[in-house]
Amino acid sequence: MDVKSLKKQAAETAAEWVESGMVVGLGSGSTAIFATRRLAQRLGQGELQDILGVPTSLATEAAANALGIPLTTLAARPRVDMTIDGADEVDPDLNVIKGGGGALLREKIVAQVSARLVIVVDESKLSQRLGTRFYVPVETAPFSWESQAGFLEHQGAEVALRMDEGRPYRTDQGNLILDCRFGPIADAAELAATLKSRAGIVEHGLFIGMASDVVVAGVDGVRHLRKP
Ligand code: A5P
Repeated sequence: MDVKSLKKQAAETAAEWVESGMVVGLGSGSTAIFATRRLAQRLGQGELQDILGVPTSLATEAAANALGIPLTTLAARPRVDMTIDGADEVDPDLNVIKGGGGALLREKIVAQVSARLVIVVDESKLSQRLGTRFYVPVETAPFSWESQAGFLEHQGAEVALRMDEGRPYRTDQGNLILDCRFGPIADAAELAATLKSRAGIVEHGLFIGMASDVVVAGVDGVRHLRKP
């Protein structure tokens, strides 16, 4: 089975857990979009009623509008019942790296007010230690970003400014992304705290202790991992 089908299976499994009346965080990326589409389908079939979506990026907001999913904001509905989102790497304790698509700040803002954060992935995203398979995206203010790049190199990362068609990539907030290849990270929680304490770093893609569930689709079927 190809990776796209596995992503679809994982996302659609989580979309079945959404119940009528819920406020739902709508994740970003090529996996989460399958959940958003499935929710729209369930709404259209009358299987679900009165759900409100909170999009985690401008791209997801546009997709949800096109699919006819009613949306709200955290100003109007500060608590989210369930967020379904993708990830770039998942460790055995359900800590994850996110932000490959650049939406990490809004994703983390929505995740932190979600009663359940359900991460949906294909099995290629699993690893024993974060940093083994993926870099850590770090959203950085444009002002003197080179200073943050130097700081991140000092922390042991190989740093690359994310580009988009020959220009620096801009997030939905107008910030830059520094993709930081650390290799296997010995203590991801400690690194997360170090990154968070640096002025100029707006957010980073380490989501430590935030996921309540992970749905993994692989060649042998779909598995549901829960936070102990
Ligand atoms: C978006 O910024 C990301 O956090 C995505 O959720 C993550 O990169 C996974 O993306 P895919 O589902 O496209 O692999």
